[in-house]
Amino acid sequence: MKRCLVTGGAGFIGSALVRYLLSGEQDTSMVGRVVVLDKLTYAGRWENLEECAKDSRFRFVQGDIGDEALVGRLLIEEKVDSVFHLAAESHVDRSIEGPEAFIQTNLVGTYRLLQAARECQRKLNMAEDFRFLHVSTDEVFGSLGLQDSAFTEETPYRPNSPYSASKAGSDHLARAWFHTFGLPVIITNCSNNYGPRQYPEKLIPVMMLKALAGEKLPVYGDGSNIRDWLYVGDHARGLATACFRGKPGESYNFGGRAEVSNLELVKVLLSLLRELGHPQATEQLISFVKDRPGHDWRYAIDGKKSEQMLGWQPKETFTTGLRRTLEWYLENKDWVSSVQDQGHKSWMEKNYEKRAMGG
Ligand code: NAD
Ligand code: DAU
Repeated sequence: MKRCLVTGGAGFIGSALVRYLLSGEQDTSMVGRVVVLDKLTYAGRWENLEECAKDSRFRFVQGDIGDEALVGRLLIEEKVDSVFHLAAESHVDRSIEGPEAFIQTNLVGTYRLLQAARECQRKLNMAEDFRFLHVSTDEVFGSLGLQDSAFTEETPYRPNSPYSASKAGSDHLARAWFHTFGLPVIITNCSNNYGPRQYPEKLIPVMMLKALAGEKLPVYGDGSNIRDWLYVGDHARGLATACFRGKPGESYNFGGRAEVSNLELVKVLLSLLRELGHPQATEQLISFVKDRPGHDWRYAIDGKKSEQMLGWQPKETFTTGLRRTLEWYLENKDWVSSVQDQGHKSWMEKNYEKRAMGG
């Protein structure tokens, strides 16, 4: 039976992964233990894991991945053989406001975790079974033009924001720990995730909650930037498959086969909200605001390798996934009001009030 540690398991993707690991679906029938290590920053919410706490295989530990002694003890005590590393500072706009936490968690934290994993593998003598899955992003590959081919696993790294630079650095550390120390590392790089429980600082929940409140919708620049949207449940399934079936030393890309410009996305979201009974969600709310500095124009993933080598494919289309997402937010008002706390309010003021709202 697999004994898993999920760092960042109280976050958006981490909590979807924990639910998937405990689900018994496909490869997860061999999961015997799921331990979450999470610092519970503003983005980490206990509410995201409440239902998992009923499962006797689940344990939650509040702590920092940078605390090597704590991580080391936990790995040995729980005889962990599968580390899913998701803990990170994840929001690009925050990395522009204050890069320090990104360097500390994404780079130094990952280094400490890799060291602790090396030590655990040595002490428990797990040469064959141990896996360290490092979860990364397509942003490490930089920005594409309209005619450029989508990112493959061979695309050179060209990070442009403090966030993507810190993630790129952590990918390089993970890769080096495989090549130099033989730690069985697998790296995954995925496109923009969306789905239930995404903290309302990212595009989809920001636009949805503002539209419901009848507030202006702050589209950065001219809204032509393109992202490739991946439903979080599809990503969670991909991560489990990569860890349990992937080959150490390899990296795998996951994409949603759903490239959409931001402006188009907002229009589809508004139209779905109207269909779901919210007539206030009109296109008149759209407001073009000051662009993000260094804003990457287009991301797109070529997912052939993970489709061929892991047999993974996204199941949700953008329309089915977006509808499920909006319905979840509409049905989970307690979650929404709980995350819209003072810290959230302060961030919204800081990020948006300085961007002059156009018409
Ligand atoms: P998130 O911000 O929702 O969650 C991050 C989690 O990490 C939170 O629970 C937080 O409390 C925890 N955390 C932060 N610092 C920590 C520390 N020092 N020690 C322990 N826990 C800490 O992020 P997410 O969107 O769920 O992203 C998860 C991972 O996936 C990240 O590594 C991110 O870079 C990567 N990723 C995200 C996306 C996306 O679209 N959201 C896409 C590609 C890759
Ligand atoms: O590509 C993967 C990455 O996707 C992950 O690594 C990051 O953790 C995740 O945050 C996400 O990064 P983005 O910067 O692409 O996501 P975000 O939701 O912040 O923005 C998506 C697009 O929408 C981007 O072009 C900026 C734009 N945007 C965003 C916000 C929050 C707006 O126009 N208005 C907004 O209010």
